Amino acid sequence: MNKPHNFSAGPCILPESVLQQASEAVINFDGLNLSLIEVSHRGKNFEAVMERSRQLVKELLGVPEGYQVLFLQGGASLGFLISAYNMMGSRKNPAYINTGTWSAGAIKEVSFTGATANVIASSQDRNFCYIPKNYSIPSDSDYLHITTNNTIEGTQFHHIPETDVPLVADMSSDIFSKQIDVSKFDLIYAGAQKNLGPAGATLYIVKEEAMARRTLAIPTMLDLKKQYEKESMYNTPPVFSIYVSMLTLEWLKNLGGIGEMERINNEKAACLYTEIDRNPLFKGTADLEDRSKMNVTFVLNNADLEPEFDRLWKEAQISGIRGHRSVGGYRASLYNALPLSSVQALVDVMQNFEKQFG
Ligand SMILES: Cc1ncc(COP(=O)(O)O)c(C=O)c1O
Repeated sequence: MNKPHNFSAGPCILPESVLQQASEAVINFDGLNLSLIEVSHRGKNFEAVMERSRQLVKELLGVPEGYQVLFLQGGASLGFLISAYNMMGSRKNPAYINTGTWSAGAIKEVSFTGATANVIASSQDRNFCYIPKNYSIPSDSDYLHITTNNTIEGTQFHHIPETDVPLVADMSSDIFSKQIDVSKFDLIYAGAQKNLGPAGATLYIVKEEAMARRTLAIPTMLDLKKQYEKESMYNTPPVFSIYVSMLTLEWLKNLGGIGEMERINNEKAACLYTEIDRNPLFKGTADLEDRSKMNVTFVLNNADLEPEFDRLWKEAQISGIRGHRSVGGYRASLYNALPLSSVQALVDVMQNFEKQFG
């Protein structure tokens, strides 16, 4: 049976060669005749994996001196709290931009630190279909938190806010999809399960200066400075997720790096958005200039035709394009490992649908 075109929003498609290598390592890791998941994380073989993973993150993203790369646990949802604990200053005045479900989640966690998030801009008034533009960032903010790509609503920051206050970003759903200037951020965090690997590991890229500034007493597992001192191994790390992340990063490097990945991702997004805009049966849900290149959200102009459209894409072996349960409609996630041919398969279905029902 052919593998379906996998548009899942996360966990999501990973490169076939990575799955192959990972499956081999589950049986025989590094020629040890032992599984990757049955050897000590303190052994030299896994320590080399951790080191290589950190090195690849630095190399691919061009992480400048003065930053540390950590692989922790708890997903981006724990990152909401970890970022607040570690970045909170004595003013207890953090600024947040609310661009959807996940940034709302981050805002909610702030209260556990004893502070209240100052929501300086929000796109809630139009169901989060855009990225707010005109707002001012109070200069006395401890930090500004943004969600660079809104996985559920299908919007993305195409311009990072210019600010003098420390910038914190949840990049779970667009990290490694395009070039970024890490030096603009004090802290970046991302769950592994989109462009990196299986769920389990959470990537943190943190400025050393920011770790030195911390003001709160932080529970050990949530303390970035402690985790850095212990080289992400304060406790047993999620070895499988980190190993597969390393393989995916090697794959990305061999492909030509993030510049080449960005070019391919632009092509995939353009292919699908062009069809959505051309085909009278479909409508994109995000404002044009804020559309996400990772999660393309759209609806049918006539919702009564949904069963017909669903039948066609299922027949074409397409999987994972239903919108998030909170918003409905459709969402095609175009993460790094999704080939252009899968996007073309979806476009063919949309054109076929138009021929039959347009
Ligand atoms: C942008 C963003 N932030 C946070 C999360 C939550 O991540 P996790 O399930 O790793 O806690 C997600 C999950 O999809 C996400 O897309």
